[in-house]
Amino acid sequence: MNHYSPGAFETEEAEIRAALERPLGDAEGLPGYYYGADFYRIEQRTLFPRAWAAVAVGAQIPNPGDALPVDLAGWPLLLVRKNDGEIAAFHNICRHRALRLVAQPCSNLKSLRCPWHSWRYDLDGNLLAMPEIGGARTGEAPGFDKAELGLKPVRLGRWLDFIFVNIDGSAPPFEEHIAPLAALLSDYDFVDIRHAAAFEDSYNGNWKIVTESGIEDYHLPFGHPQLNAHLIRNSTARVVAPVYTALSTDLTDFPAETEQRAWNARLPDLPRSDDAGPRLLYAINVFPTGSILLAADHLMLGIHLPDGPERTKVQINIYANGDAATSPDYAEARQGTIDMWAEVLPQDAAFIEGVQATIGVRDAAGIKTRFSPYWEGGVRGFQKMVLDAVT
Ligand code: FES
Ligand SMILES: [Fe+2]
Repeated sequence: MNHYSPGAFETEEAEIRAALERPLGDAEGLPGYYYGADFYRIEQRTLFPRAWAAVAVGAQIPNPGDALPVDLAGWPLLLVRKNDGEIAAFHNICRHRALRLVAQPCSNLKSLRCPWHSWRYDLDGNLLAMPEIGGARTGEAPGFDKAELGLKPVRLGRWLDFIFVNIDGSAPPFEEHIAPLAALLSDYDFVDIRHAAAFEDSYNGNWKIVTESGIEDYHLPFGHPQLNAHLIRNSTARVVAPVYTALSTDLTDFPAETEQRAWNARLPDLPRSDDAGPRLLYAINVFPTGSILLAADHLMLGIHLPDGPERTKVQINIYANGDAATSPDYAEARQGTIDMWAEVLPQDAAFIEGVQATIGVRDAAGIKTRFSPYWEGGVRGFQKMVLDAVT
């Protein structure tokens, strides 16, 4: 079949799942139409609102009075740093006539004022004023109870610097949800981790293609030769549905004669507990929209937000330990790391765009995708999470 229809989705789902779950070397990936506009509409009302989805990092709203509008697959959300320093999440929708309340990132706000009819909310989302609602100089009207017309809150979770939301309220408690991922990285001491840099990018491809490109190391020597990944070729995938897909590379035998530590590490190593095992390099999808790259010397937190079915916005944040994140002594080393990523990440654009280009016809052509039995267990694990999240 070459395009989606609701009936077809239901009848074929079992078949698609069976092909996906076969032994990895024999398994087949999700069909092309899963990466198109019709399937995106299903994800918009199932996968995204049900998930604990990473939508930003705290460093994007560092100070009280900062507000950041974000869009999670068409759900307009508003993140606010409150006066007490905590973060709150709301539907970014005015309770009067549903204007998107905040259109641009702002700072130094004392309150949130809707530009249309000037309803005003405090940073906790409480409605403060609805001027002239009952006529000239009459800020009250029968049936308009301020206590009932505050901004609608959205469930929020924090881990590392990530800001997660669960829109429909149905996900398990956040601490419980994130525990397996926190356990995976429990050797690290992130107490003094600080934000060093941020940049944004976008890809012309469905959010799942972008994610899949980041959770396999198969392509590294071919797609990103400057990473020297050919010098140490190993990869272990761990999949804990519906929380994460993690790839780890054991860096123990990275050859010293390159005069570079693994992945061109330049900053002091991130601290780990004394009894930590061999140092691993991690590439993680925090399902569905977060990513972590954990190198010897820096941590990268990414937010991958779909911008429609065929485009993905990526917001990348680099963190280092203590002074390494901010001191001028490390400015050159930090810039080296930033430059490396600014060069590497766009190298995936052509692959992502090239996969997107085939989604509309590959099913009709009878072409199924395959997985390397060594390298691509993480990609298959991610695709299973997608399937579980929409059914
Ligand atoms: S829509 Fe916000 S005040 Fe009217
Ligand atoms: Fe890549």
